[in-house]
Amino acid sequence: MIVNTAKKYSPKSLDEFIFPNEEACELVTAYSSGEMERPLILYGSSGSGKSLLQRLIPQAIERKETQVNKVICSDLKLPRDIHDLYGRNKQFNHVFTVNGQRYNYFIIEEFYMKSIRLNDALKIELDATLGTDLTIFSTNRFELIDRGILSRSETLEVQPCNSSIFLPHAKKIMQAEEIDISDHDLQVKLNAIYAVYKDNRKYYSIMDALIRKERIQCLTT
Ligand SMILES: Nc1ncnc2c1ncn2[C@@H]1O[C@H](COP(=O)(O)OP(=O)(O)OP(=O)(O)O)[C@@H](O)[C@H]1O
Ligand SMILES: [Mg+2]
Repeated sequence: MIVNTAKKYSPKSLDEFIFPNEEACELVTAYSSGEMERPLILYGSSGSGKSLLQRLIPQAIERKETQVNKVICSDLKLPRDIHDLYGRNKQFNHVFTVNGQRYNYFIIEEFYMKSIRLNDALKIELDATLGTDLTIFSTNRFELIDRGILSRSETLEVQPCNSSIFLPHAKKIMQAEEIDISDHDLQVKLNAIYAVYKDNRKYYSIMDALIRKERIQCLTT
C-alpha cells in the first residue's frame, strides 16, 4: 500500500534518466561513449541527480556490472589517503583496469577540499591516471573548488528538472500504481513542488503522498 516511488522508479540506467536540458544530455551522452577522459565535476543543488549520474555513467560506459571506487570526500583527510585511493603502490593501475573495464572509476561524493596539500595530491593523481582512470565528482560547493582541479576537469551544472520535463515520468509512475489523476492535476502538484523546492527528490515525495492518500481513501470508502 505504501510505496517509495523514488526507490521503485528511480532510473536504473542512463536511458531512463530525465535530463533537465540539452547541455546536460549532450555532455553525459559524450561521457557514456567512453571517449571523454577528463575528470567530470557534477555540481548543483540537492536532489538534482548528481549522485545518480555518478552511478549511471560508469554503467553506461561499460554496459555490464561495473566496479567503482566510491568515497565521501571528507574521508580523504591526508594526501596519503588520496594516493592510496588511486593505488600508489599498484603500478599496474596505470596500464590496466579492473575487469578489463574501459576505466577504473573513482566516484568522489560531496567534493570539497580546503587544504592545498590535498588539492595538490589530487592534481598529481588526476594527471597521472588520465586515460586509465575516470574520476567523477559531485558537489554542492562548486564555487569553492580549487582552480587547478577545475582546470583539469569538465564541469556540468546538473539542474533540477522543471515540472513539465518531469511530468511524463510522473504520469508513468501514477499509471503503474493505478492512480487515477488527470494530467492537469498532476502538473499542478508538480508545479507547486518546483516553485518551492526545485528538487527532483521532492517530486517523488509528492507522488508517494498522492498514492497514500488515494489508497487510504479507497480503504475508508
Ligand atoms: N534527473 C532525474 N531523473 C530521475 N530521477 C531523478 C533525477 N534526479 C534525481 N532523481 C531522483 O532523486 C534521487 C536523488 O538524486 P541524487 O541523489 O542524485 O541527488 P543529488 O543531486 O546527488 O543530491 P545531493 O546534493 O543532496 O547529494 C535519485 O535517487 C532519483 O530517485
Ligand atoms: Mg549526492
